[in-house]
Amino acid sequence: LKVSEAIGSRKSIRAFLDTPVEEKIVRQILTVAARAPSGGNLQPWHVYALCGEARDGLVAIVKKTMADQTPDAPEYEIYPKKLPDPYRSRRYKVGEDMYAAIDVGRDDKAGRAKQFSRNFDFFGAPVGLIFTIDRIMQQGQWSDLGMFIENVMLLAREHGLETCPQEAWAIWSNTIRNHLDIPDEQMIFCGMAVGYADKDAAINSLETERAALEEFVSFRGF
Ligand SMILES: Cc1cc2nc3c(=O)[nH]c(=O)nc-3n(C[C@H](O)[C@H](O)[C@H](O)COP(=O)(O)O)c2cc1C
Repeated sequence: LKVSEAIGSRKSIRAFLDTPVEEKIVRQILTVAARAPSGGNLQPWHVYALCGEARDGLVAIVKKTMADQTPDAPEYEIYPKKLPDPYRSRRYKVGEDMYAAIDVGRDDKAGRAKQFSRNFDFFGAPVGLIFTIDRIMQQGQWSDLGMFIENVMLLAREHGLETCPQEAWAIWSNTIRNHLDIPDEQMIFCGMAVGYADKDAAINSLETERAALEEFVSFRGF
């Protein structure tokens, strides 16, 4: 796979087959992903890689907590409180397109909630990753973490695997922390579902848009 092919074929997958993912592939992906650059070579990432009982255990505890508790406060603001345009419209659009793909209407709150709750089953993927970063880290290191995470997603493509990065897990940070025994110094950034796509699932037909080059690049002196 060329880099452009890995990038071009990566998209968020939200329904997976239960086909197992070999441990050695997960180890290989994470080893190579750690070649990501980071300011001062800090390598400020931590990953909790979950499979089998460990994955199912987390899913079960979050499901149980969800049934009788409101979410834990996320440890960071997932979005700015007031999201201005163009960001607001982009967020709205992808939401509308996603629910349209599965025929869930605008006013179908239960349908939307049900789809959202699938996040907490890693969308059926057999491997779940939880990414954390030391609380003391600053914007630069969060960016480093992002590069590492993108590497994981692109390398997954090389192995025929698909992914969905999932900030949704951040709303259950206390539950995850307690269950996985994550040290207090680490902040839970996001999860990621890793597995083989269910190609027949309607939700996986979603293709997201991107802004035109002119909207985000200022070419000077070309
Ligand atoms: C850090 C991060 C967190 C995300 N969290 C979620 C999530 O919790 N649930 C979800 O369904 N999608 C999540 N997404 C996927 C985005 O919605 C998706 O990347 C975006 O709409 C572009 O679509 P694409 O990934 O298919 O190209 C997340 C993406 C990123 C990068």
